[in-house]
Order: sequence, then C-alpha cells, then structure tokens
Amino acid sequence: MNENDDSGDVLDHLEWVKSPSLSHWNHHRLIEARQLIYETTGELYDTKRLQMLPLDERFGMWVLSDGRKDYGIFWAMKLNKQTARVLAFSISTDLQGKGFGAQGWSTFALAAKNLGMKRVQLEVRQDNTAAIRLYHRRGLRPRGYITGFYRGHDGWLMMGPLRVQASSQ
Ligand SMILES: CC(C)(COP(=O)(O)OP(=O)(O)OC[C@H]1O[C@@H](n2cnc3c(N)ncnc32)[C@H](O)[C@@H]1OP(=O)(O)O)[C@@H](O)C(=O)NCCC(=O)NCCS
Repeated sequence: MNENDDSGDVLDHLEWVKSPSLSHWNHHRLIEARQLIYETTGELYDTKRLQMLPLDERFGMWVLSDGRKDYGIFWAMKLNKQTARVLAFSISTDLQGKGFGAQGWSTFALAAKNLGMKRVQLEVRQDNTAAIRLYHRRGLRPRGYITGFYRGHDGWLMMGPLRVQASSQ
C-alpha cells in the first residue's frame, strides 16, 4: 500500500485524542490547524494568536487524529469553576456528517464533567443551523444575541448544562 495515500483507511484509524499544549506544536501543525479552521468557518487566525488561546489542558485540547495528521479540533477553556467555554470545533469538510463531531463533543463533555464542570457555553454564527441544532440537542439554548459576531454575521451565545449525549430534541 502506498504510505502517502490518505484516502484509504483513514476513517478506521481516526480517534479523538488529547493533544499537547499548542505552545509545543510545530509550525506545520499550527498552519494546518489554521487552515482547517479557515476552511470550515471562514475565520482566519494568526498562528501566534492560536497559541495564546487559554485552553484547558485537562478537558479542552482534543484533536481528531490518525496518528499523523489532525482532521478535527475541539478546543475549550475553563470560564469559571463550573463552566466550560468552547473556543473552536471543526471537522475537516470531507469528514463532516459521519459522527465525528458527536464523538468529539462526548469526549470533551465526559472529561469536563469528570473534572467538575457543570455548564458549557459557546458562540455560534446565527446562520450555522447544523451546529445550532447539534448544540440544541445537547441542551444548549440561545441566551444572548451578538451583533456583528464575525465579519458582519450575527451570532448566538448559547449556554446549557454539560451533557455527554444528545437527546432527540
Ligand atoms: C459542526 C461540526 C463540528 C459537526 O461535526 P460533524 O462531524 O459534521 O457532526 P456529526 O456527523 O457528528 O453530526 C452531529 C449531529 O448533526 C447531525 N448532522 C450531521 N450532518 C448534518 C447535516 N448536513 N445537516 C443536518 N444535520 C446534520 C447528525 O445527525 C448529528 O446529530 P446528533 O446531534 O443527534 O448527534 C462540523 O460539521 C464542522 O466542522 N462544521 C464547520 C465548522 C463549524 O460550524 N463549527 C462550529 C462552530 S460554533
């Protein structure tokens, strides 16, 4: 088998794993994360800024990896004693809709719950209906409206209890 062929069994080898602190990532890995965020959200970050995100090392640094490359990220911080805040959540475009996002949420939520977190909040663009539904099924509700949240797009501040699994609603 061609070792450089990414297309083959990538799906079978992907799992959410804890990543080292972003301050220890090499430039190439940071550039790829920046690209992933840009391709999935349109948001362009400076890599230095990414490294400064105050991610929680115990529950907020997850990557969807095949051991060689990151195909997804789930980054979160501790907002206060019982509240986690999600800062980035992206799955590579061609791997979306296959359950990896749900897995990533559960991985994060379980770790955060085990560390005493009870609530979660995040910001999401108002037109991102798929993500809003995903969050809604996990108990989050819009609690504030953010005007001009990103490049003129309005957004919701969503909050809720920290739930590992989705409900049918
Ligand atoms: C949002 C995102 C992280 C979700 O990851 P994903 O791997 O695509 O999601 P999954 O396949 O696990 O599906 C999650 C849920 O959405 C549903 N879903 C998946 N694809 C869908 C689609 N195209 N339309 C509607 N619902 C869909 C699934 O049925 C699943 O339902 P559940 O809530 O009952 O578990 C991913 O789509 C993504 O990176 N989007 C672009 C970046 C983004 O919007 N990030 C969030 C910013 S706040």
